[in-house]
Order: sequence, then structure tokens, then C-alpha cells
Amino acid sequence: MSKKDNFIQILNEGYTSKGGSIILGGAMLDGEAISNVHVKIPLKTLNRHGLIAGATGTGKTKTIQVLSEQLSSFGIPVLMMDIKGDFSGIAKEGEEKSFVTERHQKINIPYSTSSFPVELLTLSQQNGVRLRSTISEFGPVLFSRILDLNDTQSGVISVIFKYCDDHKMPLLDLKDIKKVINYITEEGKEEIEESYGKISASTTGTILRKIIELEQQGADLFFGETSFDINDLLRFDENGKGYVNIIRLTDIQDKPKLFSTFMLSLLAEIYQQMPEKGDADQPELVLFIDEAHLIFNEASKTLLDQIETIVKLIRSKGIGVFFITQNPMDIPSGVLAQLGLKIQHALRAFTANDRKAIKMTADNYPTSEFYKTDELITSLGIGEALVTALNEKGIPTPLVASMMRAPQSRMDILTEAEITEINSKSKLVRKYNEEIDRESAYEMLTKKIISDQEEITEAQVEKENKPEPSTAEVVTKSVLKVVTSATFIRGAFGILMKILKK
Ligand SMILES: Nc1ncnc2c1ncn2[C@@H]1O[C@H](COP(=O)(O)OP(=O)(O)OP(=O)(O)O)[C@@H](O)[C@H]1O
Ligand SMILES: [Mg+2]
Repeated sequence: MSKKDNFIQILNEGYTSKGGSIILGGAMLDGEAISNVHVKIPLKTLNRHGLIAGATGTGKTKTIQVLSEQLSSFGIPVLMMDIKGDFSGIAKEGEEKSFVTERHQKINIPYSTSSFPVELLTLSQQNGVRLRSTISEFGPVLFSRILDLNDTQSGVISVIFKYCDDHKMPLLDLKDIKKVINYITEEGKEEIEESYGKISASTTGTILRKIIELEQQGADLFFGETSFDINDLLRFDENGKGYVNIIRLTDIQDKPKLFSTFMLSLLAEIYQQMPEKGDADQPELVLFIDEAHLIFNEASKTLLDQIETIVKLIRSKGIGVFFITQNPMDIPSGVLAQLGLKIQHALRAFTANDRKAIKMTADNYPTSEFYKTDELITSLGIGEALVTALNEKGIPTPLVASMMRAPQSRMDILTEAEITEINSKSKLVRKYNEEIDRESAYEMLTKKIISDQEEITEAQVEKENKPEPSTAEVVTKSVLKVVTSATFIRGAFGILMKILKK
């Protein structure tokens, strides 16, 4: 049998599967696409997560676009963290350019243009669906972790949450928690010490400083109501295509702490809200995290451990997480070990360090009798990649160089007018974009301080006159009226805490 026939046979055996599959592109041998041998990834295996790596301009973002389009067509919603803001074009039909049709002729996959249902989301004031979360929903554990607090400081945060629970005071935004911290060190000092023990002013001072640091990264926009319901990510259009939810994060690149906080809270929330799936035929949702080095670069060891744990656990909920980065070495080894699908675009060897990284990367792939992996990694063309997946039995499929198919949607960004149009039609924009600042810890404590002062004055008056109904009674009644699900939510986060401790 010739080398080529042998190659075709091994690939056909290695890449067959029973259920539905997405087609990434055509197999390549000796730099040429082999017509009709396609690289297929079973939908069933996409909750085993993945990595897309490669030097700048080698085709990573287009690969995400291709993957998202295929997933959407199968009715699988996608969530894309768009750090560079270059992903929005998926909402519009592409153009049949000659370089695209030539590529598709080589790999023998018919080409047609198409557009996909898109929802644009934002963490800041950009044009899009506002993503928010309340501090109560974060819970004391996660909130302490994002502030990088030590055990003593975390203890104080737990007391604050407990105090607010006991007094039915919702912690919605940073203004609330700052107010409580001020209160427990000043007016409420005695009350707190009596019920919860002594709290040092230097500890609360440190916590406040760290909250302000987070605030300066723009977190005040993120904390508050209306908090986002994860189920709103799982939508389909009238043709059954899964929604491609794009979180536009262009203004978060220089705010790594906010980004990793947001990522972890999102993963935790998805993990909590989604039912257990077991071994399903296809994933419920696939997440793509572009420029993933940003979450790992400045993350503390605890944060990294948590990301690793949650990535491990979230699989059983039918969620696939894909990390996209230039160099696979950017991903911590604990996370890397859990990524089943690997799509490696070209790497460039400029320095000795680059060459070392390439060697290590090549060694991490299954050995192949058809390729010299380290040499191939540096010589792949744009829109070509080395691929290995997991088959249905969880065994790595043979390494294959793939000429990726081209996106069916626009390979460029949307115009401002197009973005505005999408948002004006969005149900979610209407649902989430109204600013709400209902009565929460800040307002309640402000009232309490005033009423306490009034009580003192009244007590003095009482000596002279007959007693009147105190303002405190009135306030207590209104406090009870405030609906708070804080206790329930804390319960849920208690579960998360146990999981994270494992
Ligand atoms: N599958 C593909 N089909 C057709 N053209 C492609 C494909 N992949 C990449 N290209 C071409 O290469 C260009 C760069 O690709 P892309 O933006 O995906 O690179 P990248 O790796 O994401 O780069 P960066 O690291 O700068 O974000 C595209 O604009 C497109 O012209
Ligand atoms: Mg890119």
C-alpha cells in the first residue's frame, strides 16, 4: 500500500464516529490537501474541552468562527469571549471570494455563505446586553478569592455576609459592601462585636483598599442588578440554529483581574445552574475564551486551582470550554491536561526559547508516521492546523494536518450601524439594560444610622414626655418587606465551596 493510501486508511478509521460530527476541513499530506478525506470531530466529544493555539495571524479566530458556525447549525449555542472585538462578523453572510472557493475546491467541501443568530453582550457600558451579577450571588468564598484575601480577611467577609443575611439586607453592588464595612467599623462596631466578635480596623482597611482596586478596574459596572440568567445563553432562532453569544471584552484587556473574576464567576454560575447531563449526544453550550493567557497571566494560585477544578467538573453538565492562545505553554499544565481537542496552528521559531517551546508542543501530540511534527508546526500555512481529538472512547485520534474550511459568515467585523441594529432587535437588551438600584444594604444602613440617632434623641425627650412609637419599628417593618434570596443563594455557593475544596 502506498504511503498516501495508508494515510487515508488510518484517517478514515481514526475519524469515523456514530453520532453527528462537525467537519473542520480536509486532511493534508506532504503539504497537499487530499480531496475527500475530511477531519471530523464527533459532537459527543466536545464537552472534553479544547485548545486552539498558534502564532498571530495564523487563523485561530477564523477557526473559532468555523467551529461556532458548525455548532450553531447543529442547534448548539455558543458563548464567545471576544477580547479583540474581531468576531462580530458571524452575524452577517460572508462573500464568495476566490481564495475561499479555491480552498474549498482543494478540500472538496461545498461552500455556501450564511449568517448566524447573534446576541452581543457586554460587561461595561458598550452597546449590548449588560451582564451583571450581585455580590450576594457571588457569595463570601468567591468574593474573597477575587480580592485575594487571606484567611483572616476572608473571615471578615464571611461575617459581613452573615450579618447581612441575619438582617435581611441584600448585598447587590460594591456600594453596599463598602457601606457595611464602614458601618461595622464605626456606628455598628459594638453591635457587631457583641454578636460576631471583634474585627480589627486594619483588616477592614485592607479589604476596603482591595475593593477599591477592583472598582478601579471597572467592577462597579459588573456588580448589581439585573443579574444575568444563564438560561438566556441557551437560545435558538426560528430555524433551530443555536445563538452565538458574543461577549465583547475589548475594554477589559488591561484589566486582567476583572477578566479572571468574571470568567470564574461565569463558569461557577453555569456549573450551578445547569443540570447534570452524563454522556449526552451533543453539548449544551460551548464556550470559547480567546486570548486565554489573559486569565492565567496574573491569576493567583487559588484562582488557577479553581479554574482547573471547575473546568474538570463542568464537563458533566454538557459544557465544552475551548481556550485560545498563541502558545500552548500559556495554559497551566493542569488545565492543558484536560483539553481533548487540540487545534495547533503554526508557531514561529525566532529564538531559542521558541524552538524549545515548539519541541515541547510537538512532544505533547500523538506520534505520527506521516509527519515530523516539530518541523510541520513551523511550516503550516495560514488557515492550516495540526489536529488531534478524542474519539468516542476517549482515545486520541491520529494526528492530522488539516486545511481548515472557511467561515460561511463575514470574515470581518460589523459596522456600528449593524451592531446597533442587532441590539435594537434584542429581547435581552430590553430585559437587562435598565439600571435598577433597589433598596439594599447601602440604603438600609443609611436609614438605620439615622434612626439610631433619632432614637438617642427620642430617649432624651422620653425622660420629659410620654413615649411615642419609635422610628426603628417602622424601619424594621420596611426591612422585612425587602425580598432577599441571599440565604438561598448562599446555600448554593456553599455547595460550590465544597466542590472547590475537593
Ligand atoms: N479557515 C480560513 N479560511 C480562509 N481564510 C483564513 C482562514 N483562516 C485564516 N484565514 C486568513 O488569515 C487571516 C488571519 O486569520 P485570523 O484572524 O483567524 O488569525 P489569528 O490567529 O486569530 O490572529 P491573531 O493572533 O492576530 O488574533 C484571516 O483574516 C483570513 O484572511
Ligand atoms: Mg485572533
